[in-house]
Order: sequence, then structure tokens, then C-alpha cells
Amino acid sequence: MHIVCLGGGPAGLYLAILMKKADPRNRVRVIERNRPSDTFGFGVVFSDQTLEHLRDEDAESYDAIERSFYHWDSIDVFYRDQVVRSCGHGFAGLGRHDLLRILQQRAQALGVELEFERDLAPHDVDAYLDADLVVGSDGLNSVVRTRFADAFAPQIDWRPNRFVWLGSTQPLPAFTFFFDENEHGLWRVHAYRYTQNAAPGEPQSTFIVECTAETLLRAGLDQADEDATVAYCEALFAPRLGGHKLCKNRSMWRSFPTVRCGTWSHKNVVLLGDAVHTAHFSIGSGTKLAMEDAIALAKALRSGTGSVKDALTAYEAERRPVVESIQRTAQTSLEWFEHTERFMNLEPWQFGFSLLTRSLRITHENLQQRDPSFIAQVNEHIAAQAEQQSGIKLSRHPAPPPMFTPLRIRDLLLPNRIAVSPMCQYSADDGTPGEWHLVHLGSRAIGGAGLVIAEMTDVCRDGRISPGCAGLYKPEHVPAWKRIVDFVHQHSDAKIGVQLAHAGRKGAVARPWQGDAPLPPDEAWPLIAPSAIAWNAQSQVPREMTRADMLTLLSDFVSATEMADMAGFDLLELHMAHGYLLSSFISPLSNLRTDEYGGSLVNRMRFPLEVFAAVRAAWPEEKPISVRISAHDWAPGGLLPGDAIGIAKLLKQAGADIVDVSSGGTAQEGRPQYGRLYQTPFAEELRLQVGIATMAVGNISSYSDANSIIAAGRADLALLARAHLFDPYWTRHAAAEQGHSMRWPDPYQSVAHYKPRFK
Ligand SMILES: Cc1cc2nc3c(=O)[nH]c(=O)nc-3n(C[C@H](O)[C@H](O)[C@H](O)COP(=O)(O)OP(=O)(O)OC[C@H]3O[C@@H](n4cnc5c(N)ncnc54)[C@H](O)[C@@H]3O)c2cc1C
Ligand SMILES: Cc1cc2nc3c(=O)[nH]c(=O)nc-3n(C[C@H](O)[C@H](O)[C@H](O)COP(=O)(O)O)c2cc1C
Repeated sequence: MHIVCLGGGPAGLYLAILMKKADPRNRVRVIERNRPSDTFGFGVVFSDQTLEHLRDEDAESYDAIERSFYHWDSIDVFYRDQVVRSCGHGFAGLGRHDLLRILQQRAQALGVELEFERDLAPHDVDAYLDADLVVGSDGLNSVVRTRFADAFAPQIDWRPNRFVWLGSTQPLPAFTFFFDENEHGLWRVHAYRYTQNAAPGEPQSTFIVECTAETLLRAGLDQADEDATVAYCEALFAPRLGGHKLCKNRSMWRSFPTVRCGTWSHKNVVLLGDAVHTAHFSIGSGTKLAMEDAIALAKALRSGTGSVKDALTAYEAERRPVVESIQRTAQTSLEWFEHTERFMNLEPWQFGFSLLTRSLRITHENLQQRDPSFIAQVNEHIAAQAEQQSGIKLSRHPAPPPMFTPLRIRDLLLPNRIAVSPMCQYSADDGTPGEWHLVHLGSRAIGGAGLVIAEMTDVCRDGRISPGCAGLYKPEHVPAWKRIVDFVHQHSDAKIGVQLAHAGRKGAVARPWQGDAPLPPDEAWPLIAPSAIAWNAQSQVPREMTRADMLTLLSDFVSATEMADMAGFDLLELHMAHGYLLSSFISPLSNLRTDEYGGSLVNRMRFPLEVFAAVRAAWPEEKPISVRISAHDWAPGGLLPGDAIGIAKLLKQAGADIVDVSSGGTAQEGRPQYGRLYQTPFAEELRLQVGIATMAVGNISSYSDANSIIAAGRADLALLARAHLFDPYWTRHAAAEQGHSMRWPDPYQSVAHYKPRFK
């Protein structure tokens, strides 16, 4: 084969090595614009796992890399006057210069043709197209990608923060983060040592400084040259540098571009490494991804009896999911650094935990395995916070896992931080809950959740979604609910809440398992909504609410509240999410009113807040009220997470105790980006920005995620819907897995020390 790699960085050189090694008859060329000894930047990072891949692929280059790298296993977070250290992370730093030298030498020894100082323009690529394979390994600003931009369909997302890549003569013992504030703003530093052989005065650590664009502007550095940058940073970080110097190397302030491509190959041209994708430097994966691309492409080319085209298709099929997963991780990580100002009120240990778990790759449980003493400290801090907040004395030997700490909201004391999210059962008879509800809610209460929230329960018959929806609108509903509430109180430590709602324009449909379609006219009831906009093309058009409708509904909410109290519920949740009536007042997509109940957010919140005030006045002072909101419409022109801040502020002012932060369900065209914990960032944002307690919900299914949410201060409660539906004893099982003891109900005492075997 004749292979030409355009760009001699880690991706191009490693592919060249692997392909020449695979078959010495291959003609492999690398075209590079720099001289062999040139390089920008300082060090790169590999995880222990990446190093294993490199060892398996080419022992010779791996051995040379191993001789040059500096290995560390701790992460130090310097914040305020403290350092938070977490161990067991296993990384190696390596000078980029050393890496390129090793790869160049190995490539040369194998017979790869290296051509330096050839700076290619996009049209120069055509001269190489007669090779069997042309590899675009020319990095971030790839000319190969530009030459075939129509085919590769690149998308470049320029991130708002600014960063500069500096070096430092300081031999840092750990992967190090500094967070320092001065009169211009907050500065983040990502720093790590990458060599053990530096001569005195030579850089031996990478020192990336990052800040917001506003901070850079205030510091007057937006147009700074390298010397001005170094001088400013040396003065700023002098207390951290211990007399060491910062060093420049094409150190200009930049924004980070996340690169994604629609397709990775075109005819016999393929993209590799930074040319086809980037992942933010805060997860240190760029070089790893580039070299792993090379491994996958070489494997695909080696394995095939098929054509080059087949191999390129196989390469993309293997790598794209991995890369996209890392890019998602990188995205959450870069957002943490874009919003670090938000976390500056956290105590150092919690700030450190939040940083370590920012991208979901590392959880409470991973850290427990890597560094048990660090997690023991985190758990002790959480226990101390919970003890102070709840007034309940907690053990410290050991401290309970974060999810098993109590929470007090007004006079309501929840025994732990797991709540069963409200879930419609569509099994009521004209609003009356029955046997099904008793077992459904009762078993989850026995199953260990600290709080179970009964499903969306409608305040009037015409406010139901389906004929099977639960209600609190007629006298017999009270004893029916009381039977369930009493069961929960008598037979479990759980508390029980109820979610009050009106379905609005999403009402009068069949049960989900009967097809969800609008009911036939003889069975349907009239719908109301803030504006006369049908939910979808098949739906009944709702009537625009008049002031008289609002007053009737206010009184329905009040009477349902009184009934909920008579039934003995401990917490009341107002449903202002998912496109139901109150939610459709809040979303600009469903509220087109021109009176004082439409228009601005304050106007759109007016009726929901009137409902809140009426309900608050009718609900006993000592009992809390939660409000569920959709923090994001996920639809063009709809609410964005930033708008949820305004909503939560108004709810807080009105006296809401806790916000249950969900999203979506508000518009047909909404396209939520589902994923693990996908709504938790919204709960975190409101908790930190508005200073209100929050519940996180949405794809929380592991106890390590629940612990991480509580320990990082992302929410006060973790709500589980499907996970606790799947396993009514989810919370008990989580306790057993973590060696945390929970009291069993008396009739079940015989299993208190029983360990079942499932396999
Ligand atoms: C601030 C910062 C910190 C980073 N930290 C890390 C880290 O800690 N760990 C990590 O693994 N990665 C890190 N990276 C990412 C890393 O530098 C890249 O992801 C990695 O080098 C990608 O390898 P590559 O071979 O695809 O591209 P590159 O390393 O960019 O190599 C491309 C090569 O092509 C050459 N080239 C480009 N254009 C032309 C042209 N027109 N003609 C001829 N030759 C050309 C270039 O000179 C270069 O040698 C960081 C990046 C940044 C910006
Ligand atoms: C069967 C079912 C019924 C639901 N009914 C309600 C409801 O009555 N009120 C509500 O606010 N959300 C309802 N939801 C949404 C859940 O409360 C929760 O927000 C959502 O399922 C995401 O959580 P999960 O990923 O843990 O399932 C329901 C979800 C399911 C699966």
C-alpha cells in the first residue's frame, strides 16, 4: 500500500509506525510543515489505560515513552487557603517534544519516509490523491478537512472561555488545579509535570491558565503578547509558584474549538485525531484519542480482505461512538470550567469533590475505590452538614453514605435523600386511588425511599389527563388517599407527598397502554389552557382561560390542598412542568396571551404564583411545598436553563421550599437530549445560583450517582422514577450494597442479615 499522512503529529506518526510495522512493503510517507525538533506546547497526559494500549501495539515506542514520562497518581485542588488531595488516579505526563522525537525515531527506524518543512495549502492535498490512502492527520486547523469540507461537514463549536498554554519550571508532584481570584476575576490553572529529566531553568510542568472572556478583558490581556502574559501570570500565581518561573512557547490566548465531523472519510481520504474531533484539554484526552484513532485505523486496514473504503467505514464505526462519548464527557467538563464562578461558595472539600466528579466519568464510588480516605472525609463533611441541617445526630464511624443522610424541610424530616418521583398509574376510578396505588406506593415506601411522591393528582375532574388519573376533587378521595398515607406512615420510615395538577391542553386522552389518543367526543371533557393552542394536530383545541376560569381553578387548588392535608400527606408538590396547565402558562411556546398573564416571564408566572400563594395559605405552615418545573423546553423559542433561574427566584420569593427540576414535555417539537443525569445540571444551577433547595431527577439509576449528586451539592434530594419502579426495593438494595444498615419492618426482620445470591 502507498499511504501518505499529511501532518506529522502523534496521530500521523503513530499510524505510519503501525502500518509500516504491519507490512514493511507498505510505502508510508509523513509530510510535516515543522522541522523535526520544533514543537508548540509542553506536555501531554496519558492514563495508565492508554499506556497499556500503546504497549500492546508497539512495545519499542512504548518502552521509550515509559523511560521519558513522569508518573503521578494524585490530583491536588488548591482553592482558598486549602489543598484538597485525592489519590489513586494513575496518569503519566510526557513532553510533547519527547513524544514526537520518540515517534519520529521509531518511524525512521522502520523505514517511514519523513518529509519536514512542507507547509501544505488545501489545494496541495490533490497532489497526493493517487496514493492508496491519504490521511488527514494535520490537527485542529486541518487543510485536508478544509479541502473536502463539503464531504466531511465539519462543525466547530468555539467555546467562550479563554486559555493560554504555558510551561513552568516547577516540578509539581500531582495533577494540579489552582483557583485564584484577583480584582479582574477568577483564574483557573490546569497544571501537571511531564518530565523528570529537565535541566535547571527548563520547563517541566504544563501550566494552562483559563478564565472567562470578561476576566481577560478586565485584566487587559486580550491583546497581550507572550511576555505580557507571562509577566501577569507570574505575578498572579507567585504564591503558588514557590519562586519558579513560567515559560512561553507560542503562548497566545485562545478559545477552545470542539470539532465534530459529519463523516470521517471521503473516497481514499480519511481524517484522524484533532483534524476530525477535539475534546477539551480539561480531560487531557487529545493525544490519547489521536493515537487510539491510529490504532483503530491500522487495525481496520490490516484486518481487511475488503477495500480501503471498507476499512475506512469500519474505522469510523468503531471510533465514532467512543469519541462521541468522550466528547460528551469533555462537554460537561468544559462547562464546569466555564461556570466555575458558580461553585466559589462551596467549601473546599465540596468544591474539590464537585471538580473531580464534574464529567460523570468519576463518581463517589470510583473515588471510594481509588482513595477510601478521601471519600471517608467527604462522607464525614456531608454527615456534619446534614446533622446541622436536620438536628439529627449521625454516626461518624463510619459516616453514612451521602444518600443516607437525613434532610429537614420545614418540620418534615426525611430519613434519607432518595425520593420516588411522581408517576401516573392511570388506574384510579373517577379520581379515587385503590388497591393498585396502595401496593405501588406502599411497596416503594417499604423499599426504603425517604419520600414517595404520589402521582399527578388532579384538582378537578376536567383537569385529568386520562379517565384513570388520580384526583383530589370529591369527598371520597380523602379516605382513599388516607388509607395509603396511613399505611406508609405505619409500616415504613418514609414520608409521603402528593403532586397537585391540572392537565390543561394535554388532557382528555386515553391511558398510555390504550394508545394515548384523544378521547372520542362523547367521552372527552372540555379543555382549558392559557392560549387556544392544541397540543398536537389530533388534539382538542383548548379554550383560552378567562379570569373567571382562573378563579374557579384557584379555588379547586385550595380545596384539593385542604383534602391533601386531611388525607395526611406530608409534602405537597405543585406540578408546573411537562406542559400541563401551570407549565403551559410559563412556557412562551404555549402562552401567547396579551394580558397581564402573558408576555414577560413575570407575567407568565403570574397565575402559577397566584396558585402557589393560595395553596401556601391553605397548607399547614409546618408542611413544605415543592414545585416541579421544566427547566428547559428543548425547543426553538422555548425556555432555556437560564430562564429557569428567573422562575426559581420567583418561586423562592413566593415561599417555595424546594424545586423539583425536570425538563421538557412542553411542546411537540421539543427534543430533549437524554443521557445519564441529563437534568441534574439544571438542579445544580438553581441550587447554586438561586440558593434554593432542589431535587434532581432524570436518568438517575445508580447509588454512586445518587451519592455523587448529594456529595457535590448538585441537589438536596435524588428522585428516581423508573429505577424505583423497576425495583421497589432500590433504596434497600443500595444500602445493602454499601454496607449501610436500614431498619426492616417487623414482619421482615428475618432478612435483616440475609444475603441473597442472584447468580
Ligand atoms: C492547551 C492544550 C492542552 C492540551 N493538553 C493535552 C493533554 O494534556 N493531553 C493530551 O493528550 N492532549 C492534549 N492536548 C491536545 C493535543 O495537543 C492534541 O489533541 C493532539 O496533539 C492531537 O494530535 P494530532 O496528531 O491529531 O494533531 P497535532 O498534534 O496538532 O498534529 C498535527 C500535525 O500536523 C502538522 N500540520 C498542521 N497543518 C499542517 C499543514 N498545513 N501542512 C503540514 N503539516 C501540518 C502540525 O505541524 C502538526 O505537527 C492539548 C491541547 C491544547 C490546545
Ligand atoms: C410511568 C411514569 C409516569 C409518570 N408520571 C408522572 C407524573 O405523574 N408527574 C410527573 O411530574 N412526572 C411523571 N413522570 C416523570 C417522572 O416523574 C420522572 O420525572 C421521569 O420519569 C424521569 O425520571 P427517571 O429517569 O428516573 O424515570 C412519569 C414517569 C413515568 C415513567
